[in-house]
Amino acid sequence: MKPLIETLSDPGQLAAAAARHFARAATRALRNWGEFTVALSGGSTPRAAFERIAGLTAADGLEWEKVQFFWGDERCVPPEHAQSNFSLARQSLLDRLDIPPQNIHRIPGELEPHTAAQAYESDLRSALSARVDQGIDLPRFDLILLGLGLDGHTASLFPGSAALTEYLRWVLAQQAPDKSWRLTLTLPVINAAAEVLFLVSGREKAQILRRVLRGAEDLRALPAQAVRPAGGDVIWLVDAPAASLI
Ligand code: 6PG
Repeated sequence: MKPLIETLSDPGQLAAAAARHFARAATRALRNWGEFTVALSGGSTPRAAFERIAGLTAADGLEWEKVQFFWGDERCVPPEHAQSNFSLARQSLLDRLDIPPQNIHRIPGELEPHTAAQAYESDLRSALSARVDQGIDLPRFDLILLGLGLDGHTASLFPGSAALTEYLRWVLAQQAPDKSWRLTLTLPVINAAAEVLFLVSGREKAQILRRVLRGAEDLRALPAQAVRPAGGDVIWLVDAPAASLI
């Protein structure tokens, strides 16, 4: 399905649009499944969106105790570390909500990377068991939030990495170009989601966004191009500076 691109005037409008999409996806999932499974992203762009999402209430269709939080990727650092994606979400979103601790499925970045990948995959397999399509052995997240790196990476799927051709595992430990260890959902899991929402902000992203959305197809060089849910939607929420070249 062709990606939908929604351009917002500034980062504040981008955050508000992200909250609207989150509420819509949650309402639909709660109606269909009685729960909402969402994988959050890292990076700096989501902070403002998470703060807006934290303000959603029952009037917006949110029943927070029925929301199950997961992550699309994580740095191999402890949960309180400044670079932890979990820490960002905790400060800007989770600490502001009344949700049962068992609804929070963080990636255990403090463990040895391969052990952490196995532990997170086990958590996903048990928490999402009702949402696994047995035929393809993949879970169907209701919503996955993603960002776009300056090199075309998304989640912790970096250009040229072996993770791009992983078809069996749901979670991999990967070294980023700076050699730091990361943990990431694999492409088959991302592409089995019902909806993927990219958040992209800032003039410095204009060039790479143009390559990903309008350039020649090169899935190894531009992992974000490989995000194409088979039976789901891809929506790009982009602020005007980031959208200036498309
Ligand atoms: C992370 C994610 C990464 C991120 C992009 C965009 O940093 O945890 O792995 O994919 O979403 O690099 O990051 P910004 O929002 O900071 O531009």
